[in-house]
Amino acid sequence: MKKDYFGGRVAETYDDAHDERFGPEYLEAETSFLADLAGDGPVLELGIGTGRVAVPLRKRGVKVHGIELSSDMADQLRVKPGAEDIGVTIGDFATAKAPGTYSLAYLVYNTINNLTTQDEQVACFRNVAEHLEPGGYFVIDVGVPSLLQLAPDQTIHPFTVTDDHLGFDEYDFVEQGMTSHHFFRDGENWQRRSIPFRYVWPSELDLMAQLAGMSLHQRWSGWNREPFTAQSRMHVSVWKKPEAN
Ligand SMILES: C[S@@+](CC[C@H](N)C(=O)[O-])C[C@H]1O[C@@H](n2cnc3c(N)ncnc32)[C@H](O)[C@@H]1O
Repeated sequence: MKKDYFGGRVAETYDDAHDERFGPEYLEAETSFLADLAGDGPVLELGIGTGRVAVPLRKRGVKVHGIELSSDMADQLRVKPGAEDIGVTIGDFATAKAPGTYSLAYLVYNTINNLTTQDEQVACFRNVAEHLEPGGYFVIDVGVPSLLQLAPDQTIHPFTVTDDHLGFDEYDFVEQGMTSHHFFRDGENWQRRSIPFRYVWPSELDLMAQLAGMSLHQRWSGWNREPFTAQSRMHVSVWKKPEAN
């Protein structure tokens, strides 16, 4: 069984984040984008977490099912008003099977990076393709690897330095690995949390989609369909499974 990096206190405090992704404006754009692609069909969220996206999407009338590794995250979702009929399959979204087929599957908030090998990321695309109806869509929102911000030979990149939180990423350029290290102040002590990720390029994701029988449909730099350019720091990509003959 895979290690759960979102259990315990992480799950309990996940929704307290002061992050624009939890704000109403951001969620309006994100859920509107997803609802447009979903049409009338049910949708599948990989790594559904506490339902940051799934609950407002359900409130728009979209039927949602999730796959989630962390039972603690899923428990937070289950007690939320509006989550009563959101089903959750506990398992690894690279391999776990959810009931039925879907018009849309989505994997947001950099969560593809939680799969730390290329094989697992490819397996995830194949698993999604098996869950999609013909003509269905797969959406990923993930950062563009920020290696250009690094100096030659630099493998450590600090991303936050405050009185209560020190954070830095550690890169492994051979394996495309990136471990995020967090140190949180707890009174006189510091608590450490380190999470491994695998960064992945947009073109590599397109190839994974191709291996799974899908092709690129759209690529934007945000949920309001901003153009994707050389300066974009994130992308929202949509791949499509072929229509039935
Ligand atoms: C950054 S959170 C995103 C949660 C939610 N999608 C959101 O946008 O707020 C990542 C979630 O993916 C889950 N997760 C990570 N790796 C997973 C895997 N291999 N299979 C299933 N869930 C996974 C984590 O437990 C966590 O709930």
